[in-house]
Formats: sequence, C-alpha cells, structure tokens
Amino acid sequence: MIDRARLSDLRAAEEQRFVDGHPRSADLATEARGPLLAGVPMPWMTRWPGAFPVFFDSAAGARLTDVDGHEYVDLCLGDTGAMTGHALPQVADAVADRARTGITTMLPSADAIWVGHELARRFRLPSWQLAMSATDANRFVLRFARHLTGRPRIAVMDWCYHGTVDETLAVLSDGRVVARPGAMGPPDDVATTTAVVPFNDLDALDRRLAVDDVACLLMEPALTNIGIVLPEEGYLDGVRAVTRRHDVLLVIDETHTLCAGPGGCTAAWGLEPDFVVVGKPIGGGVPCAAYGMSAEVADRLDGQMLEDEIDVAGVGGTLTGNALALAAIKATLSTCLRDDDFAVAIPLAERFTDGVAGVIAEHDLAWHVQRLGCRAEYWFCPPPRDGAAAAAAVDDDLEQFLHLWALNRGILLTPFHNMALFSPHHTEADVDRHTAVFDQALTALHG
Ligand SMILES: Cc1ncc(COP(=O)(O)O)c(C=O)c1O
Repeated sequence: MIDRARLSDLRAAEEQRFVDGHPRSADLATEARGPLLAGVPMPWMTRWPGAFPVFFDSAAGARLTDVDGHEYVDLCLGDTGAMTGHALPQVADAVADRARTGITTMLPSADAIWVGHELARRFRLPSWQLAMSATDANRFVLRFARHLTGRPRIAVMDWCYHGTVDETLAVLSDGRVVARPGAMGPPDDVATTTAVVPFNDLDALDRRLAVDDVACLLMEPALTNIGIVLPEEGYLDGVRAVTRRHDVLLVIDETHTLCAGPGGCTAAWGLEPDFVVVGKPIGGGVPCAAYGMSAEVADRLDGQMLEDEIDVAGVGGTLTGNALALAAIKATLSTCLRDDDFAVAIPLAERFTDGVAGVIAEHDLAWHVQRLGCRAEYWFCPPPRDGAAAAAAVDDDLEQFLHLWALNRGILLTPFHNMALFSPHHTEADVDRHTAVFDQALTALHG
C-alpha cells in the first residue's frame, strides 16, 4: 500500500530540488513559452517530470548533459530513437559527407540498394520501401493493405501504440471501440475504421476477423507501449493461423521490439508477417523508417508502383527516401544493432531486471519487472496479460515521483512509463546506480 500523503510530501520535496538544481533550464523554459506552444517544440516534451523540461546541451553514447551541467545516465535513449547510443561518430561522418554532396533530390542514391539488402537480410522479407517516421510507414502499409484486400477496416490490439495513425488511436470500452482517452480531433469515429481486440486472446481475434471486413492486423509482437506485455506460448503462431484463415494481412510493427535482436522479434521468434515496419533507431537518430513486405505482396503491388498516378496514391512523401536518411541508415546498420551489440546490451538489461526484481522483493511489493531483449520495464502490478490490465495499473503520481527522484540523481527514464533501454555504451555501474536509486526511492516511500 502506498501512503499517498507521504508520496505527496516526497514529491513536493523532489519538485523543489529539481527547480533549485536547474536554473538555466528554468530560464530557457520561460523564454520558450513565448514562441512555442506550451514552451516546447513537440507536445510530448511536456510529459517529463519536473515543473519544466530539462533543456539538453549534448549527448554522446549513453550519457546526456543538460544546460545546467548535470550529466545523466540516459535510460530513455530518445524513447528508442537513440537505441544505438547518441552521437555515433560514424553516423556523424556519413551525415556530414552526404550533407556536403546533396541531401534531397527525388532520385535514388546507391546507398538505397545496400539498405534494401540489409533490411531484407535482417527481417527475412524481400522487398522494402522507406518512410520518414514509423507513423508514416504504418500509414502507408495500412493503405496498401486496404487496397490489396478491398476491405475497409484495420485491426489493432487494445492499448496499442503505433504512432499518430488516426485509426490506431482506439481502445475497447465495455466491448465497444472508442477513441483512446486523450486522442485529439479524430477525423472519423474509430468505431467505423477500426476493430480492437485484446492481446493474448486468440478467440476474440478469430471472432472479430470472421466478420470479413478487416484488411490487416497491425500489432507489436509484444506490447511495449503500455509497459511490456509478452505474448503467451503459442499466441503469435495462433495469430498467424487466424489471420491466414481469414485472409487478413499481418503487419508486425518492430519499431520498439527491435530491442529483441538485429531483426527484431520477427527474426528472433521466426514470425511470418506480410509486412514489417521499423523506425526510430535505424538511422542512428536521423529521422527515417522503413517497411518490408513478402514476395507475394510485393508481386501484387509491383506493377501498380509504375503507374502514372503513384505520386497521388497516398503513400510516400517528397523528402522520403532522401539520400541523407539512406546514408545514415547504412552507417547505422553496418555498425550497430548487430548480434555483437546485443550481446553487450541484453546482459545489461538482464542485470537491471535482476536488480529491480530484488528491490521489489525486498520491499515486499506486488510489482513486476519485465524484459524484452535490451528493454526492461517495471510496473505497479503483477505481469498483465493484456493492455487493459496494464493500463488499469497506471499510477501517474507514483510514476512521476519515481521518475523525478531518478532524474534528480542523474538517471533519465522514458517519461511515459517506467522503461529503461540499454545500448552497448552503458555499463554495469550505470545499471547498479539505477538499482541503488530505485531502492532509495522505495525506502523513502515506505520508511
Ligand atoms: C510500436 C510503435 N510504432 C510506431 C511508433 C511511431 O513512431 P514515430 O513517433 O517515430 O512515428 C511508435 C512510437 O512510439 C511505436 O512505439
């Protein structure tokens, strides 16, 4: 049981400590409120703990330094965008070279061929396209899927997140599909665009897909955006069988689950999707994403890609597939996110999981810590089976307190949930530092 009065006092003390320790960020935050909506260039940046966002000065490897000179162990890593570690010299060099020789021309560069082969090798799907973000990639894949099947709806998992894709901002409420709490200005009623099913429930999936109106199922192989929810034994095989039975295309979004290995869960678990989406870290921090498809899907789309009206088909974009992004992906995938890199990062995540589980047990709490590859996450409930159970355990006050406590002691966690991501640049000492700080926070909370 959390003593809420004690939590509130402790949080107030941490809020003060944060303000006292970040005078330069405070000044910049005040200045930023002039020209920037809510004082930030992107709304999610208001989600960090503390009265204002920390303004960062530089980041390298697993470290980030703010404008007040504090150095942090970065366990957020740009919410996966910097999973390779920050400011990689080889990416900086490739980007600088390309910036001097032309960035965007609406023509392919030779790097695109290397990138296509490498993605095909990693994810075992033969045919690839580029996008600017994972959101974009998902949107394009949904269009292709509707086009190929002639069916109007898409299906997603309850409490999923796939970017700012309109149809995916949907959840189940008493069995009905409704807009996800917080979704702003939905263009259409999601009940008319989207089918939503609980994760780890094959019967529900089978029943819903039997209606015959779903073009594709878009899913993460393990939920990562409401804490980590792992698939039960046999579930993903079942998903593939059910989607095949109903002629529904299976889209696996590996944007976060790339943490499982060089080819994400698709390669690690031998999945057989029709489409795969990857984004965030593949460009070493440079904005880009990609989507791959099976030979059968590619055959059906290939001819249409040559038609006169492909530029208004609703897929692609002017700067998409630009030479800078391709140079960044080549520099990143040729040197990072390989077996050797995961061989360093995954044991660090295991050490984190062991440390946090030990602290949870010591404090006799019914919490859990879950891991997928080099990503680990603790949660204030026993392991949930689906997104709704995970969402029911969200405790904003507790989360904000733990994040602020960690931040004030030099550790950055992802602002949305309790995720820690490890790169080959982290050390065992970084992990142990988090474990000690987490232990201190719980000791302060429980006395
Ligand atoms: C699984 C998944 N897919 C897609 C996205 C969208 O990525 P982006 O915001 O880079 O478009 C996210 C973002 O968190 C994600 O977690």
